[in-house]
This record gives sequence, structure tokens and C-alpha cells, in this order.
Amino acid sequence: MKTLILYYSGTGKTEIVAKTLSSQLSGDLLKVTDHKERNSFKSRIRSAIDAFRENKTKISPKKLDLDDYDLIYVGTPVWMTNPVPAIITAIDTYNFKGKNIVLFATMKNVGGNKAIKRMDEKFQSRGARVINSFTIKTQDKNTSQITGDTLSVIRLLNLNSNL
Ligand SMILES: Cc1cc2nc3c(=O)[nH]c(=O)nc-3n(C[C@H](O)[C@H](O)[C@H](O)COP(=O)(O)O)c2cc1C
Repeated sequence: MKTLILYYSGTGKTEIVAKTLSSQLSGDLLKVTDHKERNSFKSRIRSAIDAFRENKTKISPKKLDLDDYDLIYVGTPVWMTNPVPAIITAIDTYNFKGKNIVLFATMKNVGGNKAIKRMDEKFQSRGARVINSFTIKTQDKNTSQITGDTLSVIRLLNLNSNL
């Protein structure tokens, strides 16, 4: 059974989680990128509005063949207690039908569970099955702390048993 870790990351925190999952679970790693500039102060306000309204965006890859994968981890930062526009767009663009999905979200402090719930609803309506999920708080944490938190979650949820 092949595993894919699909994620978006603006400032690198979700990427730390994704890379840890990839190395621990021997999963392929794929970063979804957003064609919109998201890092300046001005664009952060725009990003917050886009996330709040669940606006779609242009992403790469535009198309994705998921035939090889049975299990797909999907990770997002939390923006305004929602998944980011790139992940909302990915869920609506790629064909996840029949796939087992594990959701993860990183956030400073609040909104992770709401973002997970929203992704769960969207995946269910697209014929995918969400089999597990987790959130990781990233505020004031460095790389090794986020890596450590991810390793704890892998142990706690027994994610290795999906292999
Ligand atoms: C536009 C925007 C909105 C955000 N909204 C929230 C939020 O609602 N709750 C929260 O705890 N953190 C929020 N954050 C912080 C990010 O979720 C957090 O820093 C996350 O770990 C970043 O992941 P990344 O480094 O992979 O982009 C927001 C950040 C941005 C840029």
C-alpha cells in the first residue's frame, strides 16, 4: 500500500510535520503551491479573507494522478479557523474518490478542529473516507519541537500500523 503526504505550507511549519510523516511512514511527499503571493503583510490580509470565504485559488500541480495511493495524508495551516485556499482547491480538483484520508492541521493556537471538520465534510462529499486526523500547535515552537510533537502523534495514533 502506497502512502502520499500532500500539504500546503506558507511559512514552513506544516512542512516540518509533512516531512516527519514522510520519513517515518515511508510516504511520498508532495507540496501544493498557490500561485498567489501570500507572504507580504498586505497579502496576509487578502489570504485571511480568502480563507474565511473559502475562495478558490490557482494551484500547482494543476492535475494529480492519485491511482497509486491508497492512503493520503492531507495537511494544511489553519487560516481564520479554516483550511487554506490551496487545500480547499486541491480537495475540489483532484480525484480522491475511494481513498483513505488522514487529515492534519497546524495552527498557532486555535481553530484546528474546525478546519479539520471542514476538510472532513468536503472529503466525505467527494467519496473519500477520513480515517484519522490530528492538529499541532506551532506558536513559539522551533523545528525540533514540531518534529517531536509529530513523532508523539505518530506513536499516540499508531499511524505506523497503516503501513
Ligand atoms: C492569514 C493567516 C491566518 C491565520 N489564522 C489562524 C487561526 O485562525 N488560528 C491560529 O491558531 N493560527 C492562525 N494562523 C497561524 C498559522 O495557522 C500557523 O502559524 C501555522 O502553523 C502556519 O503553518 P505554515 O508555516 O505551514 O504556513 C494564521 C496565519 C495566517 C498567515
